[in-house]
Amino acid sequence: MDQLIQLEAPQRHAKVMASYIVNGEPLSVAIAPNATLLEILREDLGLTGTKHGCELGECGTCTVLVDGVPVLSCLALGLSHRDGRIDTVEGMARDGALHPLQDAFAELGAAQCGYCTPGFLIAANALLAATPLPSREMIKEALSGNLCRCTGYLKIFEAVELAASRMALGAS
Ligand code: FES
Ligand code: FES
Repeated sequence: MDQLIQLEAPQRHAKVMASYIVNGEPLSVAIAPNATLLEILREDLGLTGTKHGCELGECGTCTVLVDGVPVLSCLALGLSHRDGRIDTVEGMARDGALHPLQDAFAELGAAQCGYCTPGFLIAANALLAATPLPSREMIKEALSGNLCRCTGYLKIFEAVELAASRMALGAS
């Protein structure tokens, strides 16, 4: 029996190859079968912009997009999203220019310690992709899974509105 356990143990933890498209780049990475998407992003891919908070699905700071949909990466098994398109905060800036949401957050003081900010930016980005000019209520609803202990939320809502109006002007 002891021998059986010894033989099975390494297999149980053997890594497997998984492919993803991360911020537009196709890549393959060796992952532990039980690794969360958060662990894969931060520890295997070095994308530490996605933050590690409660690990209980309660704070939203680990939010990433999987195929365009906000997902709590601390609760998502990496294996379940193989071949998925994963977008993180690192992919928001383009050609050296910050995303309008990032600009607006900085301009309005919507980030203080900043720990929650990547999650808010990703969730807000998904909202604006679906609804370019959301109402305040829609913004509150879309960001209701993200917690911030610093800003009191008002600046965050205002920043999303500012970015939305700028993006709409830019698109017109
Ligand atoms: Fe994922 Fe808090 S770290 S919800
Ligand atoms: Fe500090 Fe949100 S800015 S937790």
